[in-house]
Amino acid sequence: MSKYLITGGNKICGTLSIKGAKNSILPLMVASLLNESISIIHNVPLIADVYTMIDILKSIGCKIDLDDHVLVIDSSNLTFNKIDEGYVKKMRSSIIVLGAMISRLEHVEIYEPGGCAIGKRPIDLHLNSLRKLGIEIEEGAIIDCKRKEIIGSDIILNSPSVGATENIILAAVKAKGITRIYNAAKEPEIEDLQEFVNKMGAKVSGAGSDFIEIQGVDKLDKVEHTVIPDRIAIGTYMVASAITGGYLEVDKIVRPHMEPINNTLIKAGCDIEYTKEGLILKSPKKISTINFLKTDIHPNYPTDMQAQMVALMTLGEGKTIFCETIFENRFMHCKELNKMGADTQVISNHICKVNGVEKLHAAKTTCPDLRGGAALILAALVGEGQSEINNIYHVERGYENIEGVLNNLGADMTKI
Ligand code: EPZ
Repeated sequence: MSKYLITGGNKICGTLSIKGAKNSILPLMVASLLNESISIIHNVPLIADVYTMIDILKSIGCKIDLDDHVLVIDSSNLTFNKIDEGYVKKMRSSIIVLGAMISRLEHVEIYEPGGCAIGKRPIDLHLNSLRKLGIEIEEGAIIDCKRKEIIGSDIILNSPSVGATENIILAAVKAKGITRIYNAAKEPEIEDLQEFVNKMGAKVSGAGSDFIEIQGVDKLDKVEHTVIPDRIAIGTYMVASAITGGYLEVDKIVRPHMEPINNTLIKAGCDIEYTKEGLILKSPKKISTINFLKTDIHPNYPTDMQAQMVALMTLGEGKTIFCETIFENRFMHCKELNKMGADTQVISNHICKVNGVEKLHAAKTTCPDLRGGAALILAALVGEGQSEINNIYHVERGYENIEGVLNNLGADMTKI
C-alpha cells in the first residue's frame, strides 16, 4: 500500500491552479446518462473517484474518452441495467446513478451502498423521494427499482441531503409534469448540476435555494460544460499555507463558494484579498483561536473542511471547540493528530475540543478517511521531522496529484 513521507518545516508558498470539484464532476458524469447523446465536460479533476465513475458508466454501456482533463461521454446506448456491487461499495455516492438510470430504463438494480468511515450514510431520503415519483422500489442487498412512467410530484426532504436532492433532479428532468423539492440542499454543486442539465434542455430552477422546481421535458440534447472549481480542495491548500506560515495565490475561485471557508481563515488570523478571478492568502505569524466552529449546510462552514481546520487549530492560540452536525463519525483524524503532539479531545460524536500547542512533531499515522487524511498531510507539513502517512488511497479519491501540487509550493513530500 502506498504512503506519503513528508518532512515538515517548509513554508507552502506560490500560485495554485485547481481543477473541477469532485462533488460536482460526479453528479455531472451521472447526468450525462440523461441525454442519450454526447456530453463534453472540461476542467475534470484526475482523481480516483472520477476513474471509478468512468468504470461504472462504461459497465452499463457508455463510451468514454478522457484526455487532458476533458471528458467526452457518449450515453447513446445503455446495454446493462445493473450497477455492480464492487463499484457501489467502492464509492457509495454512486447511488445517484439510480436516478439517471431509472429516468431511461423501466427496471434498474443497484447494490445497497452501505456506510463508510464517517457515518452510516443511509439512503432513505433518496429511496422515499424516488417512490414519490412513481418508482416502485424493493430494498435489500440489491435495490430493485421498476416504473411505468415517472410522474412529477411535490417532495419534502426531512433533511437537505445533497445526494438525495441530486437523485431527485436526475430522475425528474424527463418526468411527466412538475416536481418540486422542498428543503433541498443548497450546495454549489447542486447549482452546477442545474446549469449542466439545463444546457441539455432541461427546465430546472431554484438550485442554490431550498426550493427547486423541475418541469419535465421529453428530450435532452448534447451538452458542453466546465466544472466549477473545487472549493474544498482550494480550502485545503489555503490551510496548507496558513499552517506553515506561507502565502498562496489561487488563480480561479467562485467567491460565494469560498466565503464560509475564507471567513473562518480570517478569524484564524489570515489575510485574504480577492483578485480579479481568484484570491491571495497571507498567513498570520501566530494562528488565532476561532473559539467555536460548527459545520452546517451551505452557506455555512462545510463539513468537508472540518478536519483541515482542526489541523490548523492544533497550533492555534488557546482552545477551539468544533461541532460536527452533518456526520456522526467525522473526528477520526483527532487521535492521529495527537500522535504528532496535538492536544485534541473527542468529547462526543459531534463535539471535539482542540487546545493549541506550540509545535507538532513527525509521526507515523494512518488516513481514516478522505478529509481526515488531508488533515494529517497538513499537520505533517509543519511537524518537526519526517512523517509517514498510510492508507493514502483515501486522499487520492479527492485530490489530484496532491504531492506534486504541494511540492510545487515548497513541500518536501514523497509518495512511495
Ligand atoms: C455529499 O455527500 C458529499 N459527497 C460529501 O462530501 C459531503 O460531506 C456531503 O454531501 C454533505 O455536504 C458527494 O457529493 C459525492 P448528504 P452525501 O446526503 O450526498 C444523512 C467529501 O469529503 N442522510 O447531504 O452523501 C447522512 O447520513 C464527501 O467530499 C440521511 O439520513 O451527503 C448525513 O448525516 C464526504 N438519509 C447527512 O444526511 C439519506 O437518505 C448529509 O448527507 C441521505 C443522507
